[in-house]
Amino acid sequence: MKTMKFFAFVVAACMLLAGCSQSTPQQEGFSVGILQYMEHTSLDEIRTAVEEELQQKATELGKPISVEVKNAQGDPTNIGTIANQFVGDNKDLIIAIATPAAAGAAAVTEEIPIVFSAVTNPVEDLQIDSLEQPGGNITGTSDAIPVEKIINLSQEITPQANCYGILYCTSEPSSSGVVQQAKEALEQQGKTFVEAAVTNTSEVQQATEKLIEQCDAIFVPIDNTVATAMSVVADLAKDAKIPVYAAADSMVRDGALASAGVNYTNLGKKTAQMAVEILQGANPASMEVQVMEDVNVVVNEDTAKAIGVDVSQYLQ
Ligand code: TRP
Repeated sequence: MKTMKFFAFVVAACMLLAGCSQSTPQQEGFSVGILQYMEHTSLDEIRTAVEEELQQKATELGKPISVEVKNAQGDPTNIGTIANQFVGDNKDLIIAIATPAAAGAAAVTEEIPIVFSAVTNPVEDLQIDSLEQPGGNITGTSDAIPVEKIINLSQEITPQANCYGILYCTSEPSSSGVVQQAKEALEQQGKTFVEAAVTNTSEVQQATEKLIEQCDAIFVPIDNTVATAMSVVADLAKDAKIPVYAAADSMVRDGALASAGVNYTNLGKKTAQMAVEILQGANPASMEVQVMEDVNVVVNEDTAKAIGVDVSQYLQ
């Protein structure tokens, strides 16, 4: 009887030990680093959607996902520091929001999987092989910018607009292609344009004032730097009764008149879903980049009232 009891005790002790060793944190959950390029309405919206979807998926999987969020505040040095810290911490995966963040993460690791979010031109700006087969350790989501649609919308709302001021930052890779397409679309429609290129946020106010003197509408591409100062642009344009057409819905929420663009909450969710697939073993090299193409027209009713244009047909 005594031996039986002792035997039972040994078995119980072994089971307990085995149980304990199984619950080391590394085996149990995943660690993800989120690198956000800077704070503005759209990137904040994306980050929130990514975080919510990651937690939702973690609950479904029954495995915790610990998430560390870092914001580079638009500073290239910070991007490098944060990306290196994530590599040093041996994260299971890095999510990089906006082109400069994704390029910075790609520069420091070829091992840790990277899922980029809202990169407008991933093939050109991140040097991936193709959208279908990115190759390497990187894949993600992209925001298609319907430039022609935005220009057509601007002509529907304010047909009298003839000269467009194009406001962008020279160091933003995502906006350069959109600027080019906007110029072509405007030329095709027999419109003229003036460019105002800034190098940082603090120049946005002066550049906007100049454009207001020269033009009768403003177009803002998918530009992170200008997006951070959107309320400045919107207020000046409202005072001058000039319409601002933008490449993202967030800029309309921040005061621009109208846009046609993708839904960034959906894009953020998609980004998180791709990340979870990779955490579960999928290979980023052969995971197709998801280009969000469902475009919605958005208008700002208050801005429309302030500048005296009719947008009632675009309100749901
Ligand atoms: N597409 C941008 C990039 O590639 C990021 C971005 C997402 C953005 N939403 C935006 C920029 C809204 C300006 C406004 O970096």
